[in-house]
Amino acid sequence: MLFDNHHRPISYLRLAVTDRCNLRCFYCMPEEGIRYVPKKELLTFEEIERLVRLLAEMGISKVRITGGEPFVRNDLMKLLNAIVGIPGIEQVHLTTNGVLTAPHVSNLKALGIASVNLSLDTLDRQRFRDITRRDEFDRVWETFQALVKNDIPTKINAVVMDGKNTEDIRPLAALTKEYPVSVRFIEEMPFNGEGQHYPVLHWTHSRILAELTRIYPTLERRPDPPHATATHYQVPGHPGDLGIIAAFSRTFCGTCNRIRVTAQGDLKTCLYDSGVLNLRDLLRLGHSNATVKDILLGAFSNRPKDGFEAESRRSSPDIVESMSTIGG
Ligand code: 5AD
Ligand code: SF4
Repeated sequence: MLFDNHHRPISYLRLAVTDRCNLRCFYCMPEEGIRYVPKKELLTFEEIERLVRLLAEMGISKVRITGGEPFVRNDLMKLLNAIVGIPGIEQVHLTTNGVLTAPHVSNLKALGIASVNLSLDTLDRQRFRDITRRDEFDRVWETFQALVKNDIPTKINAVVMDGKNTEDIRPLAALTKEYPVSVRFIEEMPFNGEGQHYPVLHWTHSRILAELTRIYPTLERRPDPPHATATHYQVPGHPGDLGIIAAFSRTFCGTCNRIRVTAQGDLKTCLYDSGVLNLRDLLRLGHSNATVKDILLGAFSNRPKDGFEAESRRSSPDIVESMSTIGG
């Protein structure tokens, strides 16, 4: 087992396979997009596989593939296939916006993917277009239906944005009545490529909870799995459940078991740090696995205790990254 300097186990890798995306979500990117990393600076599939293999040897057992949008990277299924086969990797999860995903769902099932997080902030086609700046609701919905049909554990991630989709909390939450899915409402973070949208966060986790309780007065608290970022709730009788993720308030850092590797190979030991070292450069300099592992151990023994400490240690204090570069 791998531990950090705060005695927290590290077992979960969130791996961004691209910084590119076919949507332009309001909370993630400016309308004109972000400056993408040149292709040659992205980790190759071979480099990704080597990294996951050595992290698995160190104690990582769970991997989430994120982006950008993972499916805009060519041959993603090939990479998933390789990662699923790495000894020590027990679970491979995927986060996707669902635009290109539907045709791959049965293959994801066959691969044994552990779960899929689908980013979906509204069930209204017009508001979908307003939030993502693309008219792709139908394809995303098709992906949702395919995931349910194939019995793949599915979570819907909805970022709650003041003035944009708060009227969607009710219909999104109501999906749990019909489907055995988890619908998670996420506090908006300032990772949108331009900095904070509001001087203070309007829709905090407690306000989201108050709204859910107003809609469903019988809402019940459910136990959270270990290392969960969401607090879980359920409406009695509904097959699905609800979650609230205090991504901005950062209430869950004490049990954080995750590290991130961005598409260009930056290691992040906290979502709010500005990158602690570049793994692509280490690999391309020809270092041995043993050396890379030593360097990783050094980084893991210097983790900030929470997202606030990580933020205070940033090289540039302003947050101007996009979630698409960081890896969702
Ligand atoms: N705030 C909160 N969540 C975000 N995501 C992306 N940008 C932000 C942000 N600024 C989340 C979305 C998406 C996932 C890829 O990352 O929920 O589902
Ligand atoms: Fe793309 Fe996800 Fe960012 Fe939306 S949040 S623009 S789907 S990477």
